[in-house]
Amino acid sequence: MSGSLDGVYEELISRAKEISLIYSCLSVLDWDQKTYMPPNGAEQRSGQVSLLAGMGHRKFTDPQIGELLDALVSGKYAQDDYSDEATNIRELKRQYDKAKKVPNSLVIEISKVTTLADSVWVEAREKSDFASFQPWLEKVIDLKHQYAECVGYPKEPYDALLDDYEPGATVEAIGKVLGSFRKDLVAFVEKILGSGKHPDISIVSRDYPVEKQEIFGKMAAAAIGFDFNSGRLDVTTHPFCTGLGPGDTRITTRYNPKHFNDAFFGILHESGHGIYDQGLDRNHWGTPRGESISLGIHESQSRMWENLVGRSRSFWIYFHPIAQRIFTEALQDVSLDDFYFAVNAVEPSFIRVEADEVTYNLHILVRFEIEHAFFKGDLKVADIPSTWNERYKHYLGITPANDAQGCLQDVHWSNGYIGYFPTYALGNLYAAQFFAKARKDISDLEDQFSLGQFGDLREWLRKNIHAHGQKYRAGKLVEVVTGKPLSHIPLMEYLRAKFGSLYNAG
Ligand code: CO
Repeated sequence: MSGSLDGVYEELISRAKEISLIYSCLSVLDWDQKTYMPPNGAEQRSGQVSLLAGMGHRKFTDPQIGELLDALVSGKYAQDDYSDEATNIRELKRQYDKAKKVPNSLVIEISKVTTLADSVWVEAREKSDFASFQPWLEKVIDLKHQYAECVGYPKEPYDALLDDYEPGATVEAIGKVLGSFRKDLVAFVEKILGSGKHPDISIVSRDYPVEKQEIFGKMAAAAIGFDFNSGRLDVTTHPFCTGLGPGDTRITTRYNPKHFNDAFFGILHESGHGIYDQGLDRNHWGTPRGESISLGIHESQSRMWENLVGRSRSFWIYFHPIAQRIFTEALQDVSLDDFYFAVNAVEPSFIRVEADEVTYNLHILVRFEIEHAFFKGDLKVADIPSTWNERYKHYLGITPANDAQGCLQDVHWSNGYIGYFPTYALGNLYAAQFFAKARKDISDLEDQFSLGQFGDLREWLRKNIHAHGQKYRAGKLVEVVTGKPLSHIPLMEYLRAKFGSLYNAG
């Protein structure tokens, strides 16, 4: 019996790897489309993409995959929850069941409606006209409810959507953490704003020539451990990171010659995603055991390098003199402390993607609370703009002048990405909890940063997080690595220590 099960498992893995190769080809096409493809290539590209996407989908939903999984779920391989084999069987079964439970007609309908909803949203945002978008958002919500009913959920339909981005997460599990976090954070932001202290942010809005930004950004990315022999950096309007497979991770950024932060911290952010991809176990490539866990854990890696490392004072002890030599005109008269304060300015703002490290989380919490409420039926879609504005007033002390600046700013809902926003906040929470543990394990971590040494932290992340692939779900990984369940305390402690001292706001 066990002999034949070996064959069954091998067959499943070889199919999984073949399907992953197809999706890896799709990622190359997608990367090329966003970086170098000429505009007139769009039609040919769409044909290439649908051919491969169709092949991938057919191969994955082949009933024989289901038979292989059925033969394996109760067998010897699935006995030890965290073995390589059990991980692959569990996660492939989860994906397969989801793909099988949703009728093709619903998949097509969701894709059709979200494509239309997206173009309506673009126009609605331009005109700041929520009313024209409202019926489309209602359609999207209705379809996502149908989707949730097809795939099932532990407690409430929203859990089914969360599970697409953060497998295993439920409102019950994360809602409490996010709720306590919001209460503490709103009070802390009030203290910061009441401090009367303001950094000189004009420092980061001087002339920063693009060629020099590229040199400096690549230097920092390489220093923290992004491997340029196994990756590259290009320019796109919307920065991203895509892992094409072992030895090939692509990141992108955008440069603003009059603003330092955009490209530099963007590069550190995408490098963090890239270092995660580069740290996955290549022997397991193409199977869940060799893939990243969730959007939230991915975001924890990017946020850690961007903020907890890249916006730390010790990081700039090393990089400030180098920046002064490269950006001579902009920075020759700027001290380390003034520069450090300027890249850590806290200022309530309307636009999420421009928000600072502290208030960013409140932007996310507003979205999470609102989407959870409208999906549950507790909030009418028509009431989203007024609720949005009330929350911004309450949490950040500001009121958007219009819906373009408010509830119409993000692309997610029109695309059907409901349940996605919480992963951004989870990323920050995971990052702080992991980082607190790394600091305990590596006692001179900050001293290392101030010498330009980041290898110990990168190896710690590789060993404790990257190398596991999907062995653990996100919540379990946090417990395994830090010994405690996810909590908002490490992030609040980190924010209080850093920004409390910058703003005299303990
Ligand atoms: Co990211």
